[in-house]
Amino acid sequence: LASIRVDVSGVEPGTQLTVKWLGKPVFIRRRTQAEIDDARAVPLEDLTIDAASQNANKPGTDAADENRAMDEAGEWLVMIGVCTHLGCVPLGDAGDFGGWFCPCHGSHYDTSGRIRKGPAPENLPVPVARFEGTELVLG
Ligand code: FES
Repeated sequence: LASIRVDVSGVEPGTQLTVKWLGKPVFIRRRTQAEIDDARAVPLEDLTIDAASQNANKPGTDAADENRAMDEAGEWLVMIGVCTHLGCVPLGDAGDFGGWFCPCHGSHYDTSGRIRKGPAPENLPVPVARFEGTELVLG
């Protein structure tokens, strides 16, 4: 598996870095406390479209935000930036849930990248990743 290293030390809270990995965009989001709080306040029962974490680092877990973020505090969210409907690239800071919005057919993802409304069937997937100091290693 081809892995890449990304220095994330310059990413400010409330912004995201998009890198290309294996031909796909990967969103590396440094979330604000408000984004984290919003994501963690959502009851699991509300995740009616996809209740799985879709996190390659935590297979078989539910979609609680704690199972999607890279770190315990929830500051870092890393996801493949490809809509799970038909593959468009969702826009950040958009949509009804303050996360990502896919303009192709109207899928709304929350601040944890979980699908909340629209035709997409699954949460944005979290790829195999880990931190080494200030570098994020994908793959
Ligand atoms: Fe995103 Fe269809 S490709 S909603």
